[in-house]
Amino acid sequence: MDSFTLIIFGITSNLAQLKLIPALYDICSKGLLPENTSIIGIARSPKSKEEFDKFLSQTLHSENKHHQHPIDEKILRKLQRTFYYLDGHIEDPTFYPKLKNFLHTLSRQGSNSHNKIFYLATYPHLYAEIFKCLDQSGLSSENEGWTRIMIEKPIGTNLRSAIELNGLFTKFFREDQIYRLDHYLGKETLQNILAFRFGNGLFEPVMNRNYIDHIEITALEDFGIGKRGGYYDSVGALKDVGQNHLLQMITFATMDAPSEFTNREVTAKRIQVLHSLKAYPKSLVLGQYSGYQREEHVKPNSQTDTFFTFKTEVQNERFKGVPIFVRGGKKLTQTTTEISIIFKNPTNRLFSHLKCGNEPNILTYRIQPNEGIGLQILSKIPGHSLELEPTFMQFCYKTNISELPDPYERLIVDAIRGDATFFNDSEEIEAEWKFIDQLEAEHKKPAIYQPGTYGPREADEMIARENHCWLIPSNVFCAV
Ligand code: BG6
Repeated sequence: MDSFTLIIFGITSNLAQLKLIPALYDICSKGLLPENTSIIGIARSPKSKEEFDKFLSQTLHSENKHHQHPIDEKILRKLQRTFYYLDGHIEDPTFYPKLKNFLHTLSRQGSNSHNKIFYLATYPHLYAEIFKCLDQSGLSSENEGWTRIMIEKPIGTNLRSAIELNGLFTKFFREDQIYRLDHYLGKETLQNILAFRFGNGLFEPVMNRNYIDHIEITALEDFGIGKRGGYYDSVGALKDVGQNHLLQMITFATMDAPSEFTNREVTAKRIQVLHSLKAYPKSLVLGQYSGYQREEHVKPNSQTDTFFTFKTEVQNERFKGVPIFVRGGKKLTQTTTEISIIFKNPTNRLFSHLKCGNEPNILTYRIQPNEGIGLQILSKIPGHSLELEPTFMQFCYKTNISELPDPYERLIVDAIRGDATFFNDSEEIEAEWKFIDQLEAEHKKPAIYQPGTYGPREADEMIARENHCWLIPSNVFCAV
């Protein structure tokens, strides 16, 4: 891997503290930070090197459900030696010569500041000014190395604003320099769906409308919005996770096999699915948990959704007529993310007269927790009589999942290597928003639901109208 300098705008942001710094620690601990690499964290308030090192240490030692392993002090010190802090106002053009000088100084000390990654862990309304200043100061040029930018979802709030933002990015950077990050694409369990589907011969032949009855995509969280009210109240659940993570779960489950495992091919197959998604605005149900309006930084009369459900369909030869039901939200009964493929029941099932005899086979890609892949089958209850029970044939991870690379770790390493397979390109983002805009064609008020439930009653009614019901995520699945 080439050495490089990573420049993080917004090093004290929630995102940097929860995801980026822990991911960089893990990358460092695996020896994946090449010699002569530097990381510069930028934020407003002045901090000495000592204070910044303390901030890094506190961030890594604080309670973080995504990063629970012990911190090795030797690795921490190595990371602190790689990390620098620069204070400044990123919307102020006079800051950029200061940044440039800093890079020159690092360069004189042996760092490779010709290869640069700018990570924008900051507000989208600042992007335009940042890009303009990078351009004017010559910092974004690629004279002696490469320059890449990493940007977080959501890119825009609808199709129009996404097109505008993409236009802004490409005004300053080529498409292959832009890494738009949706961390679900970096999840081990999502990437394994491609290995499972396209690395085996057995399952792909039944992944079509001849065999599949319907598909359910579920992303339940039992927690609320925490301290993120300011951000969350302006987007809501559908745009926070529906437009990106959940649509990508659909693409992984239904895309056609790429002819080769390259960025171009894999991304093209995901985009094909997104273009074929049919929106049913009438099926959309929005919900809001009771008590949401009293959360910190939330408007007292807020109509923001904390839950959504909708029906869609991939309208191609392969999946036409197979309904896909999607639901996601906060403060629900449990935290589970999974894709369930419910297979059709053949008419001639030998044991259909027995109890459970008509239970369908269900293939579940469990994204989290109890990560793995399970196939629900019927099996004979051992004994003299013929009785059946549903059980699982399952693949579960042998390693503790917390030891597998976190999505941010994986995606930062991919960006360093210049591999954009699991990043979104502009067409993909715009296809996602086009679908969401169509889905939201009818303005809907969220229905109130009680925390700890599966969401509003209307969500059950929506799927019942289609003669289906929501599966209850299995707790025995890959149980440890
Ligand atoms: C983020 C959303 O993108 O994804 C959060 O902003 C959500 O609201 C989170 O909780 C879910 O990610 P994960 O990896 O915990 O499933």
